[in-house]
Amino acid sequence: MEIINNPTQVDIVKAAKALIDGQLVVFPTETVYGLGADATNKKAVSRIYSVKSRPENHPLIVHISSINQLDKWVANIPDYAIKLATEFWPGPITLILKRSELAKDFITGGQDNVGLRVPDHSIALALITEFEKLGGFGIGAPSANRFGAVSPTTIEAVELELGGYLQAEDLILDGGLSEIGVESTIINCTKEYPVVLRPGAITTKMIEYTTGLKVQFNQEKIGIRASGLMESHYSPKAKVVIDAIAEPGDGFIALANIPTPAGAIRLASPENIEEYARVLYEALRAGDQKGLKKIKIIQPEGDGLALAIRDRSGKAASGKGSVR
Ligand code: TXA
Ligand code: MG
Repeated sequence: MEIINNPTQVDIVKAAKALIDGQLVVFPTETVYGLGADATNKKAVSRIYSVKSRPENHPLIVHISSINQLDKWVANIPDYAIKLATEFWPGPITLILKRSELAKDFITGGQDNVGLRVPDHSIALALITEFEKLGGFGIGAPSANRFGAVSPTTIEAVELELGGYLQAEDLILDGGLSEIGVESTIINCTKEYPVVLRPGAITTKMIEYTTGLKVQFNQEKIGIRASGLMESHYSPKAKVVIDAIAEPGDGFIALANIPTPAGAIRLASPENIEEYARVLYEALRAGDQKGLKKIKIIQPEGDGLALAIRDRSGKAASGKGSVR
């Protein structure tokens, strides 16, 4: 694989061509890095599953360049989904909609719906736009980590996760540190009201304000599969424990105003919720790199992005590092 730092337009065109040729391209987004393939190429998409070691019935999000590309992928769009796409794209929200013919079983995990997102990152948008110019319809991309592990927010993390699994012709586009740091909000838009499947930077309040509808959460049995919905996910190798007192030798992650317990190893001191989301995954990785056995996380309070942080740290905790 080739890593391209500060990609130029020439590099972007090369990467778009690689996608058309069926290669994989890791690209930065505002949330986390994605492992991309041509979403209509069965063989290329199946490589994503083997590189990640991800079960094939877990659907991929299709990344498109703008709301204008939505019609190609979906059969039916409720008004509130159009409002969400208009308001928040490009941005960290994925909409699950009834699929069109273009969205085959190999991208939807055999489900009758497909997830779509327009990422808010200049490199991602340039790549998708060039790919569409070459005749592509969308880039299928999960987070660029091995199945069950922590999503990468830096190029070094991408290399650590996937370096050993990519082919010589695959590309990695460097975009620096991901600005948001946790994955997109996922909304099931196949019902009369929006259902949050995964909390993220686009908050419940923002969605309710934009749609005028009450948001539901995913507790009901809706028959939708999302790997991020499994209990153990987003897990480092260390055992993650939530809201417990750190002992000497434990890793410790908390807001900056919470003092480090004696002997604990501070892994991050974010000053606010946005910074907390941005540094969380790197802090978990740092714990693994130091070979720590346990990482204690003091979760932030409040709604909005704090909810996403509690969701991910809770899942990291139930993973107990056993997933990989
Ligand atoms: O921020 C993000 O969403 C990042 C960047 C790269 O865009 N992507 C990402 O993809 O987090 P992934 O595959 O790691 O997580 C997406 C989650 C998975 O749990 C997947 O199962 C679920 O979304 N998902 C995708 N399509 C779906 C669908 N049609 N129905 C239900 N869940 C779906
Ligand atoms: Mg993921």
